[in-house]
Formats: sequence, structure tokens, C-alpha cells
Amino acid sequence: MRRYLTTPIYYVSDVPHLGHAYTTIVADALARFHRMRGEDTRYLTGTDDHGQKIERMAAAHNQAPKQYADGIAAAYQKTWQALHIGNDDFIRTTDPDHEAVVQELWVIWEKNGDVYLGDYEGWYCVNCEQYYTEKELAEGNRCPVHGKPVEKVKERTVFFRLSAYQKRLQSFYDGVLAKTGRPFIEPMIRMNEVRAFVDAGLHDFAASRTNFTWGIPVPGHPGHVIYVWLDALTNYYSATRRQTLKGFWDDDVEIVHLMGKEITRFHAVYWPAMLMSAGLRPPSRIVAHGWWTVDGEKMSKTLGNVVDPNRLAEDVGADAFRYFVLREVPLGADGDFSHEALITRYNAELANDLGNLVNRTLGMVWKYLPDGIVKRPQAIQSPFKMDGKAADHMELAQPSRALEAIWSDVRTGNAYIDQRGPWKQSGDDRIETLWNVLELSRVVGNRVAAFMPERAVKLLAQLGITKAPYWADWGDYQEDYRVQRPEALFPRIDEDKKKALLAKWAPKATNAPAPPPAPESNTVEYSDFAKLDLRVGQIVSAERIPKKDKLLKLTIDIGEKRQVVAGIAESYTPESLLGRKVIFVANLKPAKIGGVLSEGMILAAGEGSALSLSALDKDCAPGTRVK
Ligand code: MSP
Repeated sequence: MRRYLTTPIYYVSDVPHLGHAYTTIVADALARFHRMRGEDTRYLTGTDDHGQKIERMAAAHNQAPKQYADGIAAAYQKTWQALHIGNDDFIRTTDPDHEAVVQELWVIWEKNGDVYLGDYEGWYCVNCEQYYTEKELAEGNRCPVHGKPVEKVKERTVFFRLSAYQKRLQSFYDGVLAKTGRPFIEPMIRMNEVRAFVDAGLHDFAASRTNFTWGIPVPGHPGHVIYVWLDALTNYYSATRRQTLKGFWDDDVEIVHLMGKEITRFHAVYWPAMLMSAGLRPPSRIVAHGWWTVDGEKMSKTLGNVVDPNRLAEDVGADAFRYFVLREVPLGADGDFSHEALITRYNAELANDLGNLVNRTLGMVWKYLPDGIVKRPQAIQSPFKMDGKAADHMELAQPSRALEAIWSDVRTGNAYIDQRGPWKQSGDDRIETLWNVLELSRVVGNRVAAFMPERAVKLLAQLGITKAPYWADWGDYQEDYRVQRPEALFPRIDEDKKKALLAKWAPKATNAPAPPPAPESNTVEYSDFAKLDLRVGQIVSAERIPKKDKLLKLTIDIGEKRQVVAGIAESYTPESLLGRKVIFVANLKPAKIGGVLSEGMILAAGEGSALSLSALDKDCAPGTRVK
């Protein structure tokens, strides 16, 4: 069977952390497993470069959005390399071929009558890049996912006719269950959530944005950019128009999207509807995992407890980190990350169980058979009662259970050595014991390659195996073992090293007083506020900027003349502004906006065509300080 696995494409707002690494590692383990079973498998990951969040983040770093996105996308690619991620392609939504496909789909939706122009008003969370209804908001008009304040936005938008897809989606979900015996979204609890959402009735959603520009232009609607989620979701399909993934959107391909539980609605409702509208097949399945906390807390910069996968990979090895996250939580459940638990599992399961199995076996081979050759017995027969369920668990996207099954075999091997006691045996009996354990180690070494690709190859090399890992079974090795000298695969972390590591990994904010729980505090010191040079400014000239619908070029008198570009053209005509007094930020770093130099900023409230300029209650001379 041909398979196509994907992760979400990650926002380039910040560098990758444990949560992003988790999705990517899970998908990688599944992709490797299927490849090792001989299935033609492709694995895609990438970055989500567009949207208001990125535009703002770039501005905060004084960079152009693309420049900022390039830096973070590179950090993602570097991290995935360090974590031994074997993706076949890396897509970015700023890739021109992707942009072209998104516009191509848009044109089809429009032709099919699924997009139409209208007005939208609602609460927008820039962090989620999503509108919320009043009912969905947390107390104090905050985002239900991040707890951050949402923004009231009113804008002219192009709608996507999602309401027309309720019945089709319902019967699609029913069809997947009937045909495969598995729900479209796993685990079932996430399917139930989505199903309830769809059953409650679907509303058309805003598919374009007009109050910023960092996105793919909507064909035929100047001033509109395509809503970032439509742009992003399309990556899964647009990548299959490339050489490496060609044909992987065909009907026979098992297409599986992996993701965290918070974004299933987009993938299970919007995305299939978008595909149906374009006459394209929907994905086969969605697998949703839970969220990681760290020592019981939500990961946050304020707490200083954001787990950097690069650092852990450097300190304990990428494969040990992969093993830990894959083994620690059953996929689908929320999990808690603790550095202490990482070290405990490392020592018990990697250094002891697996490391020792190989180490002591090879040690005995060299002790009793000085040429390092263990002859294959005439008639081989497995003395082991092996678990044998690992593959079934992987088929069901349950890596933690698969690892449990493999480790049960590892323990079986260790118990067998203890029970047979090769040190008490001699001749063919001893050779048989050693060959049997080597064979079990070979099976394990091969299978763990899906989870720990680099260590597995090292393990197999010590057994004298250079063939690429595959999903091996006991007894399918026809030769004598010619082993190498043992070398610790997972050197034990002793108490001193453990202390040193835990101190190094401790959250940075530990000495500071406990920060307030989320939502994060937005307060600033007065000294920060005082850094702003706010002045009364009088608008002495105003004109439109050619081809920029939202921008006006103003001259502001603050005792001296300043040229300013302001995004207020949808709310104010140039003539209406002459002579007005506004509050002006005089010490803002000059920047080019729409290609024109802007030396400051005037203050206004609201968005788009509903802007309201700041004003002064009494007459003040231009240049008067506002404080
Ligand atoms: N750009 C969108 C996805 C578009 S896909 C068409 C996005 N990006 S993201 O950068 O926020 O990354 C989302 C992925 O990171 C999800 O799989 C999400 O679950 C994962 N995680 C982010 N923080 C997480 C945890 N604390 N724990 C586990 N995974 C979480 O959403």
C-alpha cells in the first residue's frame, strides 16, 4: 500500500519546542515503520509562513516577514536534522509553487459558487489565527486555547460556503467508519468533538483577510489575502504536485495527517470541505495526539520552562529523547514531561535493558569464542515466547505500546541469558544460547530503527549486520554471527552526571518569584512607558499612495516636519485630515511602509474601515509632550 504521512506545518513565529518535536517524531517513527515493512511511504513536514501572527512577530523583530520566516524555517530544518527526522520534503507556504496551487484551488471554489463577498465581524485570536464566537471565549474576552486577549475585528471578507457541506461531511465520516472499522479521527474522543461541532450546524467562514497583507493574494479581489488556514491546509495537497510526492494524492494512497488535538477542527471539517469543493479526495485519516506539560505546568516563556529539543539531543542523544517521548505517553493522551523521568527511563530501559542485552551478549561471545564468530546451529528453533504485537500497535499509530511490546522481548532475552547461564554451559549448548540471543537482539535492533534510527544502526553494526533495517522476525537470518567488540550504546547516567544535567536543564525562572499563572501578564514598568516620545502632532498635508488602498502619506508638524505613512485610507479621506491634531509617536525607528519612508506613527483605535483617530480635548501646540 502507498502511504503519505504529514505533520502540521509549523508557524514560523518562534523556534521549535518539545510540542512541535513530538508531532514530528511520532510521524517519523510511523513513516519509518511503514517503510521498513516495504510500503511505499512519503513523509512531509514544513512551515506555515503567512498570517497576521508572523507579520506582527517580524515587525517586533524589525524584520521583513519573509526574512523573519526564513530564519525560523531554517531553525526548524536544523532541529529536524538533529532529531534524525527523515522527511521526504519540506514545504513552506511561501514556496511559489505552493502559492500557485492555493490560488488555483481558490479559482475552482469560486467557479463552484463556494466563495462569496460579504462583511464579517467577530473576535479574532491572532495566536490561533482563528475567529471565535462570543460563547467560545474564556472570561474577559480571552482566547479559550491561550488565554490571551482576542481582538474585535470587522472587515470586508470573502466567505467560504462551509454551511453547504454539513451533510456531505457527516456521510463522509460515517463512510470511513463503515469502510475501515475505524473513525476518521483517532482517538474517538476527538471524532466525537468534531462530530458534535458539525451536527450543531456549520457556518460559512471568513476565507480572506483585508487588514494586513502578509499572505497569498485572493485572485480577483485586490486588497484581500487568503485566510492563513486555507493557505496552510492546502500544503498537504500542493506538495503532491512536486516530483518527490507525485501521485501521492491518488485514490489508492493512505493519507494520514498527524497533529495535536487543538487543530482537528480545521483538518477534519474545513479541509475535507475545501477538497470536496475542488473535486479532490479527502485524507484517509487524522490522528490527534495530546498536549505536553512540563513538570505539571503549561510550557511558557514566562516560566522559562520551554523544552528545547536540540539541547536534550545534545545532552542525552537525539534517539534517547525520541525514545522517551514516544514511550512515555500513549498517543492521544496528554502527557507531562519531566527531565527526571527522562533520565530514569534512559538508565532503566536504554542503558540497562537494551544496552545490557547487547553488551553482555557480545562480551560473552568474545570471552568464549575468541574469533567473534557464532555458528548458526543446524536446526534453529525459537526458545522465546515473543510478544509479537509491536507491528499491530504501529498500524494503529500507537508507538508507546509498540515499544512496550519490543521491550517485553528485550526482557525475555535478558531472562533467557540468566536462566541458561552460558558461563555454566559449554560447546554447542553455549553456542546455541548465544546465537539465540544474538538473533533476538537482531530482531529488536531492526525494529527499534523506526524509533531510534541512528542507535539502531550502531547496534546492528555491533552484531555484524550492515543491511539496512527492516521489520525483522526471529529466525530469518541464515548466517553465522560475526560480531564486533561491544561499545556502550547508551552510557549510563550516574548520580553526578544526573545532578549536573538536571541543574543545566532547570527552568531559567526558578529563582524569580513565581510568575502569575496564564494568561500571561502584559504590564510594563513606567520606565518602559517613559521611553516613548509622544507628542501632539498637526497634520499639515495628506495624500493617497498609488496602488496602496489602505495607506496615506501624511506630513505631521511636531515643531519640525515628519513624513508618516498611516494605514487609515479606508476610514479617512486625505481632505478630512488637514489641520487635525493627533497623538504622535516621535521616536519610533523610521521604516519603509509600502515602499515609502515613515518617520513615526499616529495613534488610532480599531481596524480596517472602522478606525478612529486619537484626538485632544483642548487645543495644544504642535510638539507638546503627551505623558
Ligand atoms: N500552523 C498551524 C498548523 C497548520 S497545519 C495546516 C499550527 N502551527 S503550530 O506551530 O502551532 O504547531 C502545531 C503543532 O505543534 C500541533 O501538532 C500541536 O499540537 C503541536 N504542539 C504545540 N505545543 C504543544 C504541546 N505543548 N504539546 C504537544 N504538542 C503541541 O498550529
